[in-house]
Amino acid sequence: MPAMDQTLFDYTRQDAAGTCSTAHAWAKAPAPLTPPQRQALAERAAALLKAHNAVLVAHYYVDGALQDLALATGGCVADSLEMARFGRDHAAQTLVVAGVRFMGETAKILSPEKRVLMPDLDATCSLDLGCPADDFAAFCDAHPDRQVVVYANTSAAVKARADWMVTSSCALEIVADLHARGQKILWAPDRHLGRYIQEQTGADLAVWNGACIVHDEFKGLELQLLREQHPGALILVHPESPKSVVEQADVVGSTSALIKAVVEGKAQEYIVATDNGILHRMRQLAPHKTLIEAPTAGNSATCKSCAHCPWMAMNGLANLVDCLESGQPEIHVDEPIRVKAEGCITRMLDFVAARKTAATGMTPGIGAA
Ligand code: 13P
Ligand code: SF4
Repeated sequence: MPAMDQTLFDYTRQDAAGTCSTAHAWAKAPAPLTPPQRQALAERAAALLKAHNAVLVAHYYVDGALQDLALATGGCVADSLEMARFGRDHAAQTLVVAGVRFMGETAKILSPEKRVLMPDLDATCSLDLGCPADDFAAFCDAHPDRQVVVYANTSAAVKARADWMVTSSCALEIVADLHARGQKILWAPDRHLGRYIQEQTGADLAVWNGACIVHDEFKGLELQLLREQHPGALILVHPESPKSVVEQADVVGSTSALIKAVVEGKAQEYIVATDNGILHRMRQLAPHKTLIEAPTAGNSATCKSCAHCPWMAMNGLANLVDCLESGQPEIHVDEPIRVKAEGCITRMLDFVAARKTAATGMTPGIGAA
């Protein structure tokens, strides 16, 4: 297997500028609601969605009340691949994306004629922040012989420079296919997912040195100890996690794939290494299974992470109602960038659609895994 060509880009810009601080996000995260407040806001949001012919497209990591509202009003709760596809294919002229900014941008890139609203446009992602378009362009310029494959968790400007966009649910297959066709790959921005893909496919990857601040916190040693206490448990890991965690996994996959594993698995106990927002949907779909959060603390940790994305946490019922009432904030993507970025996303969706014709189908209530 070829040695991994790791770049030296390592967050210096973020540390210097403080752009990856989560304080801003936590400060804007909505306060918990009382049950009557939650019900009143959910009813108001449902009425506004209907009045505006709008559909709510939510990620599994956002507040459970938003996930429930999306399902109750004909929207979807899904992984980032299915969110993109659902938004593109839905007839509604207004898409409201409850998730992080790159998800809203992807929806707009695929459906420029639709209005795309988000509860808070400051909801970003450490992978997106850690891969500025200018620095990324220099990385691409230095590797002109490589197919540029970027993770969905990037800005529209980064996607505009890419040949392929991938999500965690299709990255392995797309890279394996490129590798089989003799292509060398430039991969950005998640170094853990890049390493996992490289190990699984044997492809030659030049990897950007980015990480998800949530998944980076899961601890391999403590996971090993936890598994000893739960010998029958299956370990489910999102591939943005470090190698020491991924190598203990029974299932590695996208958020949809991890939910599918709980629903279809024969085991009673599951240790889940991903953002704990996912537990809401897992509990709904598999109420009798025991779900245990993977450790982010212990002897090898200096502190305990909450295992929840601060930017996903910025989405709430109150700012959803505000955005439906005011029509703001709305996502806009500059047309020249949008046109360029559309190519890599469409290429991925076409690849997945072609694969689907030969695949086993979808699990009801989960979407594509
Ligand atoms: P999925 O595509 O698996 O939903 O992941 C998106 C994400 O941001 C994970 O942190
Ligand atoms: Fe980005 Fe990580 Fe949040 Fe996903 S969980 S949106 S990868 S920071």
